[in-house]
Amino acid sequence: MERNQTLNTIFDRASYRGRYKDEPVPREDMKLILKAGLAAPSGCNRQTTSLVAVDEPALLEEIRRIFPKPSCQTAPALILVFTQKIASIDGRFYHVQDYGAAIENMLLAMKSLGYDTCWYEGNVRSCANELAALMGAPEETELVCVLPVGKAAEELHRVSKKAFEERAWFNGYGR
Ligand SMILES: Cc1cc2nc3c(=O)[nH]c(=O)nc-3n(C[C@H](O)[C@H](O)[C@H](O)COP(=O)(O)O)c2cc1C
Repeated sequence: MERNQTLNTIFDRASYRGRYKDEPVPREDMKLILKAGLAAPSGCNRQTTSLVAVDEPALLEEIRRIFPKPSCQTAPALILVFTQKIASIDGRFYHVQDYGAAIENMLLAMKSLGYDTCWYEGNVRSCANELAALMGAPEETELVCVLPVGKAAEELHRVSKKAFEERAWFNGYGR
């Protein structure tokens, strides 16, 4: 299969939960990652996702105290993902899909710039309100995800994925 840079980034990405190198993430890189997130599609272009990047040491410490995930303890920067439940033209809500697309764009942007991360959503649930309050987020938003940003100091572990034939087919389900 012919692979270009975009496809290499997609296939190289894996969740990273290890320690990070003690190297700050330049603001230009952080901005590119955030812009990649905001460039994602959204239902009826409602743009329901908003982002807060944190690289200020005292604030990082506060977040680490509230959300003590090991990899976030050493990450030099974090991105906090917020969503807003805004109805689309057809009255349906696509905010979950919207932030999923934004997060995936950021995961790929990070990988392409040499950073590794993990989509922390399940683990964030119990402390989401506390983190949102710390960030001064408006009532109508919900904090849904934390993404550490940094250069991996340890090996990436890859999980196995089901076989292609078990999940994708041509011209009919299961054929
Ligand atoms: C919606 C969603 C929520 C997730 N929440 C967490 C989480 O709270 N903690 C965690 O360690 N990983 C979390 N992950 C990462 C998944 O565990 C990971 O993507 C999955 O095991 C597949 O591994 P891969 O990312 O290396 O392909 C989440 C992923 C998604 C898409």
